[in-house]
Amino acid sequence: MKIKVESNSIAEVEAGAIVVNLFEGVTQPGGATGAVDTALDGAITALIADGEIKGELAETTVIHTLGRMPATRVVVAGLGKSQDFDADRVRRVSATVCARLRRIGVTDVATIVHGAGIGGLEPRAAAQAMAEGALLGLYRFDKYKSGGDDKNDLEALRVVEFDPAKIPDIESGLEAGAMLAGAVNRCRDMVNEPANEMTPAQMAEAALEVALAGGLEMEALDRGDMEELGMGALLGVAQGSDVPPKLIVMRYRGDPGDDSNTIALIGKGITFDSGGLDLKPPAGMRQMKRDMSGGAAVIAAMGAIANLGPKINVTGIVPATENMPGANAQKPGDVVRTMNGKTIEIDNTDAEGRLVLADALAYARSLGIERIVDAATLTGAILTSLGKVRMGVFGNDQALVDHVLASAGEAGERAWQLPMDDEYKKQYRSDVADIKNTGGRDAGSITGAQIIGEFADGAAWVHLDIAGVAYGESSSGYKPKGATGVPVRTLVNLAVRLAGS
Ligand code: BES
Ligand code: MN
Ligand code: ZN
Repeated sequence: MKIKVESNSIAEVEAGAIVVNLFEGVTQPGGATGAVDTALDGAITALIADGEIKGELAETTVIHTLGRMPATRVVVAGLGKSQDFDADRVRRVSATVCARLRRIGVTDVATIVHGAGIGGLEPRAAAQAMAEGALLGLYRFDKYKSGGDDKNDLEALRVVEFDPAKIPDIESGLEAGAMLAGAVNRCRDMVNEPANEMTPAQMAEAALEVALAGGLEMEALDRGDMEELGMGALLGVAQGSDVPPKLIVMRYRGDPGDDSNTIALIGKGITFDSGGLDLKPPAGMRQMKRDMSGGAAVIAAMGAIANLGPKINVTGIVPATENMPGANAQKPGDVVRTMNGKTIEIDNTDAEGRLVLADALAYARSLGIERIVDAATLTGAILTSLGKVRMGVFGNDQALVDHVLASAGEAGERAWQLPMDDEYKKQYRSDVADIKNTGGRDAGSITGAQIIGEFADGAAWVHLDIAGVAYGESSSGYKPKGATGVPVRTLVNLAVRLAGS
């Protein structure tokens, strides 16, 4: 779909549909909505009076113009209560309207920028949210469906603004939004791929594509390299599978003169988690192609960061492997040695994420990186605590945690910090090794995070447990069923924010 801005009065535009909006409780629409209402001889006011249009969030009312206007249809989009209005609501409204129009077969849509008028948002921010919402909401993954191609698509979204002074800001916002949505959709594509089509090598290929497009350095370490580096924890997980593991490394250098201005983004890249010998039951295993969501988010975010060009160095690291119960699989009770020399007793082979992340963090530290953020579908327990609404945030450095929380808030990717008191740590003491890889049932997301944190080795570190939010069983707003692409925009915002501070 093409998104472009034009200077015009929306009521004058010829299109399959023009989109105006209404806050909840407004009975006499003004501005663009008022102008369209007048052209329709008061149809919108009448529908409000009849109670059919309430202005509730993401309510969409389609009115046929029957020749009274150049456009074929008018859509009145509800913006909800004006005091609750924000950029995320613009994303949701934009997504809902586009999806509705696609469903009824409209291909050519013109819209005003929701929120740039009485909504009080900056035109650039509102336009960015419009583009994000539209492109995120229209996403679908149908490459394996025969005949998927003849479904209709929106061809053009024209963003119409009356005031020519606002056009440049709107244009740059639309561009930024389209670029970010592209990154999120790339992440979704990777996660939605079945595990037989998104192996570690195929993840590395996707990373290479992103790197080539963005001018990033990229390498993929293989089993031999991991052996040389002493990555016993990553190798221990990988040894149960015949499919070769990869450690994907991507480098963006936005501040080449200052190596200390670097952050590592690390993403769990388990391309399929069977549980290993501690095999998952069928219902739980069925979902586990998604266990590389953190890795996919990091790869996609690296592309967007390269595009935005912030003054900071970002190293993306994705330990990618299957977790399988092959003949050589690691066994409960095994002890592995990580790259930094620490030993881990395997209490449960299904707690593999923290193992591959342990070596990835140790690798980042070996590169001298002092700030680390990891994203991982780490624990089922985070679903029990936060459900599918918020990701869990854990960290050893409150300043970095606060930057992550602010970045997530800006993106509309909801997050919640959980505690990491030292008292929890005794749960993963081992009798034979430095630690074991699980801390039992109690506070499972916290001990999981703390086990990863053991490898931060003095660096500021934040962990995002995205097991609940990376994937949805039903679509809502701009999040389709399947991979959501969370937390791509959080990671991108974070790089930009850290570059500015
Ligand atoms: N990949 C899973 C976590 C997961 C669960 C992700 C549900 C997405 C949806 C992870 O590797 C895992 O198996 N964790 C175990 C840890 C336990 C053995 C300590 C879990 O959560 O049960
Ligand atoms: Mn597991
Ligand atoms: Zn896993």
